[in-house]
Amino acid sequence: MLAGRRIVLGVSGGVAAYKAAYLARRLVEAGAVVRAVMTQSAGQFLGAQTLAAITGEHPVEDFWDEVEVSPHTDLGQWADAMVIAPATAATIAKLATGLSDNVLIATALATEAPLVVAPAMHTEMWENAATQRNVETLLADGVMIVGPLSGALAGGDTGPGRMVEPEAIVAALEEALAGAPARARVLDLAGYKVLVTAGGTREPIDPVRFIGNRSSGKMGNAIAAEAASRGAQVTLITAAAPPSGSAVDVVSVETAQQMADATWSRVADVDVAILAAAVADFRPTGVGDSKLRRGDGLPVIDIEPTPDILAGIAAMENRPYLVGFAAETGSLEGARRKATEKGVDLLVGNDVSRAGSGFATDTNEVTIYTSSGESDSWPLLSKPEVARRLWDRILEDRTPG
Ligand code: C5P
Repeated sequence: MLAGRRIVLGVSGGVAAYKAAYLARRLVEAGAVVRAVMTQSAGQFLGAQTLAAITGEHPVEDFWDEVEVSPHTDLGQWADAMVIAPATAATIAKLATGLSDNVLIATALATEAPLVVAPAMHTEMWENAATQRNVETLLADGVMIVGPLSGALAGGDTGPGRMVEPEAIVAALEEALAGAPARARVLDLAGYKVLVTAGGTREPIDPVRFIGNRSSGKMGNAIAAEAASRGAQVTLITAAAPPSGSAVDVVSVETAQQMADATWSRVADVDVAILAAAVADFRPTGVGDSKLRRGDGLPVIDIEPTPDILAGIAAMENRPYLVGFAAETGSLEGARRKATEKGVDLLVGNDVSRAGSGFATDTNEVTIYTSSGESDSWPLLSKPEVARRLWDRILEDRTPG
């Protein structure tokens, strides 16, 4: 996607400018041709020589020192896409009003290529009404805004305002180049590693028959896709069809044992595990290689328990944040009990016997239980909306204060 594309990298003056060097490298590695343009204050944080060494050309720093008569229009016309990272409050304000008093803003005004902006500033400045107004203006103008994240800021402060990681900016640039409509991407799950299980397992009775259930994998797919779109690195272990067009690593399995093996071997590495799969609780024992025949009389099928994937994770010493699901019919009392007994952080209970809720539907009506027994009942929502709220809730839980 980026190979051979001409990218103008604008760098304005914030401490996150050091990450612009890494961004330039990622773009060059992806095959893009990169030209940088810096504001004067960016030079206080990042050496022009560093960008020159990475991109192969000296960055444009001023209107006047250049060989070119009109460096801003040259660059603007040359670009397939432009990205400003970091974008300070001042740069955003100037972009929003068209105040072209430096070569970076002039280049942004002179280009017709898609523009991606990665804000970075202190929380108070980001939350200031003027900045928020300016961001709204940029969005309305078709500019793609990526971030900021909540996290460590200059001077030991923490809060919203931290520039997203270069990987997230590359992803946003690819979207912009593909013609995606501008939208704010708050990549609040960037840096998170996430594991999701989905679908209903199938336990063989013989080589052609199985014990299964009605789970479609839609809820787990929505949770995985939502996490990926918010910047997480997602592994989806599924016994159903995975979501199309989402950037998730898919591991396809069939039985509870395969799902357990796939999950347990990967879960030590993740920050959050969400077990949305409907895992069979029992499986037939002694399954042979030939089909059971009617003529042989009624078979006796012995069953044994399957591994409890969730219990295995709950018992880990350094377990990830753990979310379980409970499909109930009728009362959700069982879900409340499981929330306190299973060693999870959250349990999502749903009554699968209700219309529009549970298996194979596009909607779900769920109640969220905490391990201390508190509950929150959500209305009937689309599964992507349930996924969005679930991730909001998890982030709230994980971010103290
Ligand atoms: O107790 P119950 O089967 O209702 O618990 C459901 C939760 O446990 C779900 O999150 C499901 O993915 C998980 N589970 C599991 N391994 C099993 C059965 C269920 O991880 N063998």
